[in-house]
Amino acid sequence: RIQKIRAREILDSRGNPTVEVDIHTPSGFGRASVPSGASTGSNEALELRDKEDRYGGKGVLDAVDNITTTIESELLGMDARNQREIDGLMLALDGTENKMELGANAILGVSMAVAKAAADSLNMPLYRYLGGVNSYTLPVPTMNLLNGGKHAGNDLSIQEFMIQPKGADSFSEALRMGAETYHALGKVLESKYGASATNVGYEGGYAPPLEMTHDALDSLIKAIEEAGYTESEITLGLDAAASEFFDGQNYSIDGKMLQPGELVDYYLDLIETYPIVLIEDPFHEESFEDFAALTAEAWETIIVGDDLFVTNVARLAKGIEMCAGNALLLKVNQIGSVSEALDAAHMAMRNGYSVVVSHRSAETEDTTIADISVAIAADLIKTGAPARSERTAKYNQLLRIEEDLGEVARYMQL
Ligand code: PGA
Ligand code: ZN
Repeated sequence: RIQKIRAREILDSRGNPTVEVDIHTPSGFGRASVPSGASTGSNEALELRDKEDRYGGKGVLDAVDNITTTIESELLGMDARNQREIDGLMLALDGTENKMELGANAILGVSMAVAKAAADSLNMPLYRYLGGVNSYTLPVPTMNLLNGGKHAGNDLSIQEFMIQPKGADSFSEALRMGAETYHALGKVLESKYGASATNVGYEGGYAPPLEMTHDALDSLIKAIEEAGYTESEITLGLDAAASEFFDGQNYSIDGKMLQPGELVDYYLDLIETYPIVLIEDPFHEESFEDFAALTAEAWETIIVGDDLFVTNVARLAKGIEMCAGNALLLKVNQIGSVSEALDAAHMAMRNGYSVVVSHRSAETEDTTIADISVAIAADLIKTGAPARSERTAKYNQLLRIEEDLGEVARYMQL
């Protein structure tokens, strides 16, 4: 039974306020904090900000207040194991489509803390509580080693250049391969572009002063080689976050303006040239047709909808209907509750879509998404570079889960 709820304003990795929630039951405790995006989709649930002078208008005291008044008085005495009932109650209390009344940050903070308190009360790790006996598979990490777009101060249109250590036998080996490649990339960039090229972006990846996509990809290929791996052991992925370089008509990339059809060909060319196995948000956030066109041509590539689906079952259902993409990016704060995020994951899996569990560009030390990724046996987890504590917190939690599972642990085969 929920005995006490506390909520507070803490700082995220960009130095902005975010919501943290503590939930106490007689025999358990759960604490969770909420991430925040920079290249957010316009269809995401609403992150409530105070709009007063403090913290440049980014305070979350209203959201905190909504937790300690409205939400707490409804939830006290409820069984923390009734996740779905509790999430449903908060949705009803809010009463809006995008959680603008209480704030998705308020609701999600409570939702995640409830799950953790329930797991703790039952003396279970969170991944097992959420996933049951079938949770024993660790996802492939898709690590963002090189940052562009809105996440960096350079001129690369594409936001994220990622690697996937597919050839590993275990998650821990994958993480080591990723970290070795990250360091090799640092050396490659420093020798090519000077020491300032190893400054990092929001997600811990390097942010070299580049403009051309192929320069970033060539550096990654070199780093994989230098680290002693082959292109079948470590593959590449992109998050274009294309809404950010779309002007309503054309896409501005590599110094050119491309129409949607030309951008399809641009990606097909990249897939031919480089060992790219994954492309996220290749087109803007309403372009279901263009997603479908690329998916039809590049059906072996994992085409991920992030801003397109915003972890929302209605938008995902439309995508499935249109064969737009073949993978869901799962961001808990895009939809704002654990139950709804799990619903989106299950809809994706039932329809043959892959699931990529994801962090945001502003994170905290919270590791809930690591447990969720194992609970649902997600194909991939995307949680930044293997550096910076808000990113490694998730990777390190996966190491602990792998250790906890012991011999039954499996590493996802893509
Ligand atoms: P965001 O970026 O958290 O800044 O939205 C992450 C992503 O686009 O995947
Ligand atoms: Zn994205």
